[in-house]
Amino acid sequence: MQETLTLGRPDDFHLHLRDGAALASVIPFTARQFGRALVMPNLKPPVTTVMAANSYRDRILKAVPKDGDFSPQMTLYLTDNTPVDEVGRVADSEFVQAFKYYPAGATTNSDSGVSALKNVYRVLEAMQQMGVILCIHGEMTDPATDVFDREALFVDGPLQQITRDFPDLKVVVEHITTTEAADFVTDAGINVAATITPQHLLYNRSSIFSGGIRPHFYCLPILKREAHRQSLLKAATSGSAKFFLGTDSAPHAKNSKEACCGAAGCFTSHAALELYAEAFDSVGALAKLNDFASRFGAKFYGLPRNAGEVTLKRQTWTPPDEYAFGDETIVPLTVGRSLGWKLV
Ligand code: DOR
Ligand code: ZN
Repeated sequence: MQETLTLGRPDDFHLHLRDGAALASVIPFTARQFGRALVMPNLKPPVTTVMAANSYRDRILKAVPKDGDFSPQMTLYLTDNTPVDEVGRVADSEFVQAFKYYPAGATTNSDSGVSALKNVYRVLEAMQQMGVILCIHGEMTDPATDVFDREALFVDGPLQQITRDFPDLKVVVEHITTTEAADFVTDAGINVAATITPQHLLYNRSSIFSGGIRPHFYCLPILKREAHRQSLLKAATSGSAKFFLGTDSAPHAKNSKEACCGAAGCFTSHAALELYAEAFDSVGALAKLNDFASRFGAKFYGLPRNAGEVTLKRQTWTPPDEYAFGDETIVPLTVGRSLGWKLV
């Protein structure tokens, strides 16, 4: 049995860090595992300009532990009113790597998102022309749509439309959760890729209800049936450069998750690589994790590979049930269980 696993220093291409004291609480977990992370812009108010992204990046850097060499990479929140000029500023920016497309109302802080695709067509045209990447939260938002069908219907509708009307646009379908999304990305051109989270590789929708309702398994897009989990594992371990690591670690205070209307998001930064190692190990594919975690994402984003390495060893340990989160606490996805891999 393989006892250790060494990877090139990896990247997390989908991360929520929040701001202020919450940011200071969570950033050390990511900085110790990853060389870079692509930071999502869904703050209140959202990060919509390169100028705002640069000052958010400065705040993140101030919160990074001093001994690290972590480099935050930024995204801008696409709105109905994003000016075409902003695309040029992103293309010229060293650290802003993409626009994030939230359909309005799809998830946490998405009220300022795009209310109709046609509202952003001129911006998408400019992005296609300048090679700027579009990261997509791929879910329908019509409240009449069943929550478990939202991604598959988005793939079949708006996503088909975007890739048809902008065939050269670089697109990352974020946190894919279904066979339909995995197949779509596999069959699309090389300009279309996807991130996959640890929770969607390890758990299915029954996990949310095992023995009672478990709010720390609730995220959006929601966990799906086991057959979908199997499709995601297959895609992640396929060796295709279209699928790469993005945790979507999304911290929310304990009392906003364990509530009568609990917030969506799983916190995984404390053990992200360990969770991915467990998922890849479960199908005998540890040898595929280096490309998924440390090469394919950087290649898609046109970034050099990080210097350095990280090593995991096979060791049973139990993460804390809570971590500090500003003045509050946060409960990680791993609450109540042990892990079989540990970052050295
Ligand atoms: O579960 C989620 N939480 N999904 C998202 O898309 C947003 C995220 C958050 O910001 O909490
Ligand atoms: Zn996210």
